[in-house]
Amino acid sequence: MEAERQDGRTKYVFIGAGWVGGLTSTFFASRNPNSDFFVYDINKELISKWNQHTVPFFEEGLQEMLDQCFNKNLFFTDDKERAFEGGQYYFICVHTPTKSKGIGKGEMQDIKFVEACTRDIATFYSTRSITKPIAIIEKSTVSPRTCDNLSSIFREAQTTFPENRQKFSILSNPEFLAEGVAVRDLTSPDRVIIGAGSDPISQTLSSGLAALYASSVPGVRVINTATYTSELAKLAANAMLAQRVSSANSLALVCERLGVDVTQLAACVGSDARIGERYLAAGPGFGGSCLEKDLLALVYLAKSLGLDEVAEYWRAVYTMNQHQKRRIAELVVREFYGNLSGKKITILGVAFKKNTSDCRSSPSIDIIRYLLDEGCLIQVYDPQAKRDHFMREYASYLVDEILTEDIFSRITFEKSIAEACQDSHAIILVTEWDEFKQTDWVNVHKSMQKPPYFFDTRGILDRDELSKIGFKAFKLGLGFSESKHN
Ligand code: NAD
Ligand code: UGA
Repeated sequence: MEAERQDGRTKYVFIGAGWVGGLTSTFFASRNPNSDFFVYDINKELISKWNQHTVPFFEEGLQEMLDQCFNKNLFFTDDKERAFEGGQYYFICVHTPTKSKGIGKGEMQDIKFVEACTRDIATFYSTRSITKPIAIIEKSTVSPRTCDNLSSIFREAQTTFPENRQKFSILSNPEFLAEGVAVRDLTSPDRVIIGAGSDPISQTLSSGLAALYASSVPGVRVINTATYTSELAKLAANAMLAQRVSSANSLALVCERLGVDVTQLAACVGSDARIGERYLAAGPGFGGSCLEKDLLALVYLAKSLGLDEVAEYWRAVYTMNQHQKRRIAELVVREFYGNLSGKKITILGVAFKKNTSDCRSSPSIDIIRYLLDEGCLIQVYDPQAKRDHFMREYASYLVDEILTEDIFSRITFEKSIAEACQDSHAIILVTEWDEFKQTDWVNVHKSMQKPPYFFDTRGILDRDELSKIGFKAFKLGLGFSESKHN
């Protein structure tokens, strides 16, 4: 079979049906009814969830998009051959976690899944002639020069059609969507970046990819650039975002000492157009599956280029983030005179931010881990995050520890805020869900142990109101209310 379809419809193949593969394929399919989109994943359970016509995670607005194209021109399958057959654009959307062992452990990206996908494509074409050149697209976030690695995997694979080696190109097309607002980011992206080689095949495929974006988002700004530039742009963007959050969090500490409100400080500083007001919210530290991982990948890249000072500079952004999570847990322990043993602590929100069910690298993991070390019980409420997913992420985040039965049993998930706060000694608000702004804290206060503490690590509630209700209230980036010790 060949990469040319008889029916005139272009076929796009997405490898990986997770957040990026699932979201981007659904978006493109809903906007391009005259093309076909196949999503392949090795995880059969995940594919079966998609095939029940439901989004397997929480992302506002995605179900409606899925309804427009599911099983019309968007198909989910665990059958590789079916997915790959007749494809022209192959988007690699698999995860690229931080290496947990060996050289580069704790910093370098592990791209074995991206390599495996490229090998799968090469194997598929080892017995088929390519008539129309194919694009292998890095949608996963990868370090600069990964394109060379993938190119050599494809070029040097065994094939009965050696001419195939001249009929492909590796393109870089990093994804910039943020979870929770992904539909907005897909429908009106700030820009799309396409990195390609200068040869004619690469340029033609790059134009074809740009055309897919143009038909999906009329007037979209496409930046065409070299492949290394595009790869580096993605790491750099995430590292710059991480840097803003760590800057805000470092200033939050200064604010708490001075009794200055960090939200007001951010408004003053962010109103300078050169700085900008977005992405300056102090909080419990940045989480999610990408900022930390990509920042660390940049640290590793700098080291591997012999740029130790550069590596140290970016490493400091990570250190500040680790400090933020630790210092929140320490603050809680200190307020209880170093004794949390047997006490119930409520965690409101374990997702890494609001409007997502995703708990990957959530700051709640480290905060809970430090607190559990003190012997307390944790009662969680989160409107969307599920216990199974959280516990899996919790376990995978542990480096030199294991998830024991004891720890497992000391984390319970409750169905409501009221249940999670019942008999609790302290509330730690970790995720900024809107529901927490509408809660009747007077009632919650009544059911808690006295005196109850309230640690608002997102600074979304009125500290003085909480204080009036009777909480010993702490707002991150402002500190405790004066009435704390009354
Ligand atoms: P994810 O873990 O949600 O999904 C990855 C999927 O790939 C999994 O379902 C897994 O089963 C599948 N997979 C792994 N190896 C495979 C193989 N050989 N063949 C087929 N399927 C395979 O990951 P994600 O959050 O979608 O992230 C994917 C990439 O996109 C990462 O590099 C990430 O840094 C980047 N990214 C993520 C986001 C985000 O918001 N999550 C945004 C932009 C970029
Ligand atoms: C981030 C980037 O914003 C996306 O552009 C990028 O595509 C994505 O990473 C990726 O590469 O995966 P995401 O991780 O979904 O998106 O979420 P963000 O909204 O960026 O938030 C990351 C973390 O920073 C969250 O824990 C959030 O609470 C925290 N944050 C963000 C703050 O503490 N303060 C802020 O002002 C902004």
